[in-house]
Amino acid sequence: MAVIGSGPAGIYTAEALVKQSAEPVAVDVLERLPTPYGLVRYGVAPDHTSIKSIANYLRRVLELPQVRFLGGVTLGEHLSVEDLLGVYDAVVYCTGAMVDRKLGIPGEDLPGSVAATDFVNWYCGHPDVDPDRFTLDTSEVAVIGVGNVAVDVVRVLAKTAEELSATDVPHEVLERLGESQVKAIHMIGRRGPEHAKFTLKELRELGELANADVCVRPEEAVVLGGDFPRQVQGNIKVLQSWAAREPVGRPRRLDVRFWMRPVEILGSERVEGLKLERTRLSEDGRVVGTGEFETLPVGMVLRSVGYRSVPLPGVPFSERTMTVPNEAGRVREREYVAGWLKRGPTGVIGTNKSDAAETVRTLLADLDGRERVGHDGIGALLASRGVRPVTYDEWLAVEAAEAELAKTLGRGERVKLVGLEAMLRACRP
Ligand SMILES: Cc1cc2nc3c(=O)[nH]c(=O)nc-3n(C[C@H](O)[C@H](O)[C@H](O)COP(=O)(O)OP(=O)(O)OC[C@H]3O[C@@H](n4cnc5c(N)ncnc54)[C@H](O)[C@@H]3O)c2cc1C
Ligand SMILES: NC(=O)c1ccc[n+]([C@@H]2O[C@H](COP(=O)([O-])OP(=O)(O)OC[C@H]3O[C@@H](n4cnc5c(N)ncnc54)[C@H](OP(=O)(O)O)[C@@H]3O)[C@@H](O)[C@H]2O)c1
Repeated sequence: MAVIGSGPAGIYTAEALVKQSAEPVAVDVLERLPTPYGLVRYGVAPDHTSIKSIANYLRRVLELPQVRFLGGVTLGEHLSVEDLLGVYDAVVYCTGAMVDRKLGIPGEDLPGSVAATDFVNWYCGHPDVDPDRFTLDTSEVAVIGVGNVAVDVVRVLAKTAEELSATDVPHEVLERLGESQVKAIHMIGRRGPEHAKFTLKELRELGELANADVCVRPEEAVVLGGDFPRQVQGNIKVLQSWAAREPVGRPRRLDVRFWMRPVEILGSERVEGLKLERTRLSEDGRVVGTGEFETLPVGMVLRSVGYRSVPLPGVPFSERTMTVPNEAGRVREREYVAGWLKRGPTGVIGTNKSDAAETVRTLLADLDGRERVGHDGIGALLASRGVRPVTYDEWLAVEAAEAELAKTLGRGERVKLVGLEAMLRACRP
């Protein structure tokens, strides 16, 4: 079997294949990066070390004798769907959701208007983003969206470099964070506190920031009606308690705003401001503008309004749902899908486990009694294309180099190596 993508969905799929199959199975996990774990490595916030430790569970799957990691192999570049179906009995696509959704407002493409996907990739040291990409040389920043990614981004902006020193943030990025001029962060929700997508635990952390005062306007914290789920009631309570707080003069200030939507990013050469419009809900529940405007003097706008999957060459894709159409994980004969590419970009890491299990149940039921075509041909195929995959042991060498770097720098357990070259140097000296 081939699993494409080594994020949580891919690795849980590999695990389910090994555990659920009644007959012996061999699983190759093909990954475009030299490193496994997808968003666990390049998404989960660096200061959330306990969540990052899920990698220790995922690692045990890659170490199963039936599972093989092949890094640096990209579906659509090095291999086609036909190539895969020629050597494997079945293929499971688990390539996640790698790009940002658009706001669709004027000024969105100005320098200084940044997708959270890029900013997260930057502080996580993703090889797609240069460590010099961002200099935080503006005093005010707006973060659009009130989901958990927005909360992560706000926390990284609000903390000091010292507070992040023990994390795996690349050293070059930590230096940029240390030079940050940011004094005010505005987090903008287009609906009310009762509609915010962040979870209670993550919200509470913002109130515990040592380096930032958190402010909420009392009039924006008002919520009508009361029959909300427990999580939402918790969010409302926390936000209302902040509305009653006075700032105590911490170096940075976080303003959490509600009922404001972005209508234009202002500026000629780069971002100079953000125009917001107050909103309300229409009778049919849509967000509509009230005609009352406000401008924030920000030099950077971080758009954290959700991720989006990209089509894989040769694989069906719905432009409407931005996912691969499937029935309980089945796409076409011998082709399956799991994770964010299957469901869309929502849900925590654990959600991908039951999701992968469903796909694997479908796959194994379909294969039952069918003639097998799979054979160990991938090595020869990749060699014929001049591709030498990064092995699991080579990845371990990257990990070891990251631990060594942390020791040299006197920082935490590991510091990320930046760039494909540095990673390949570490594993193929
Ligand atoms: C910024 C951020 C922070 C998050 N933090 C948390 C958190 O703290 N806790 C939590 O529970 N959940 C968190 N989540 C959600 C969680 O990360 C997702 O639920 C999960 O990663 C989705 O898994 P996936 O395997 O579908 O996608 P991904 O994790 O994105 O994995 C996809 C993999 O496919 C690879 N790939 C892509 N294209 C190709 C190709 N063509 N060929 C080969 N390989 C390819 C990618 O390189 C990647 O490794 C966070 C999400 C984001 C965006
Ligand atoms: N610690 C964690 O557990 C953790 C950390 C990070 C991510 N995650 C998970 O990863 C998933 C993705 O998170 P996410 O934050 O990217 O997405 P999300 O939870 O869907 O939040 C997106 C936010 O963007 C807003 N938005 C969308 N379009 C907008 C527009 N045009 N203008 C203004 N605002 C707009 C949404 O508001 P509306 O509601 O009004 O649409 C919402 O507040 C979630 O399931 C999340 O829980 C978990």
